[in-house]
Amino acid sequence: MKVRQLYVLFIILLQFTCIVRGGLECLNLQLSVSQKVENEGFHRNINWLIESTNFDNENWRTSNCEIALQLDVPPEMFVNPDEILNLNRTGQISAYIDGSINVEAPAHESTEHKVYIYLKSNSIGKVSVELPVHLRYQRAVIGGGFGKINLSKPSLLVLCPIAGRELCGDYSKVTAPCDSTGQHLCVWQNVTYQALFDDVQLFVPVGDLDDYPIVSVVTLLLGCFGSIYILSLLSTMSI
Ligand SMILES: *[C@@H]1O[C@H](CO)[C@@H](O)[C@H](O)[C@H]1NC(C)=O
Ligand SMILES: *[C@@H]1O[C@H](CO)[C@@H](O)[C@H](O)[C@H]1NC(C)=O
Ligand SMILES: *[C@@H]1O[C@H](CO)[C@@H](O)[C@H](O)[C@H]1NC(C)=O
Repeated sequence: MKVRQLYVLFIILLQFTCIVRGGLECLNLQLSVSQKVENEGFHRNINWLIESTNFDNENWRTSNCEIALQLDVPPEMFVNPDEILNLNRTGQISAYIDGSINVEAPAHESTEHKVYIYLKSNSIGKVSVELPVHLRYQRAVIGGGFGKINLSKPSLLVLCPIAGRELCGDYSKVTAPCDSTGQHLCVWQNVTYQALFDDVQLFVPVGDLDDYPIVSVVTLLLGCFGSIYILSLLSTMSI
């Protein structure tokens, strides 16, 4: 009998602490992400599939939490703002680009930028996103070959705007635009996820310096001077 009463007391205490913590249980979000890069050459598509392994949709819907994906785009790559604007207009993507982009510039004259993609789906079971990216021309080298670009893993950001509905666990905070208009900043949580993919290196063809006109001209001139020198040697010899 004594044990049973203690047990009941323990349960009541447990529930009480839950109520004190905000009335509702925290959201235990466990996500996995797979990534696939499609196409070859300068124009690629990155596909991400974000899946929740444990989550019940009803709970997620009522939480009003939002998820965004942040990708750091290195100088060797860019996201085309016009293309994103179009995709945003037609509702295929909801994204904001942070940074200025010159779509013509080669890699060594470009800077990094960030893309935020807002996963507006209010179902967390399975969300897929597709982002078109473009690789920049890289400085030509002698012999040509391929330039390598490290594609970094995206960060998953979660924002729970309703007080009392929060994620379980302690994640680092990231300040990022609240939505695709980019007008306001929000403090998001950088949630960890299970990455079902390896780090990727993209290869881009690099021009061969030997093919460049200036190189050919210099080679030609050297050839000319060489012949003139030999000819002059011959003429002095024959005199
Ligand atoms: C890309 O990653 C490889 C290892 O995966 C590393 O050796 C290399 O230095 C990285 N390149 C750049 C430009 O960060
Ligand atoms: C994307 O579209 C939404 C409306 O659907 C608009 O409010 C927003 O400003 C657009 N974002 C960009 C970057 O154009
Ligand atoms: C989010 O956290 C991961 C490590 O868990 C880190 O690599 C990444 O840079 C963070 N993202 C941001 C935007 O701070």
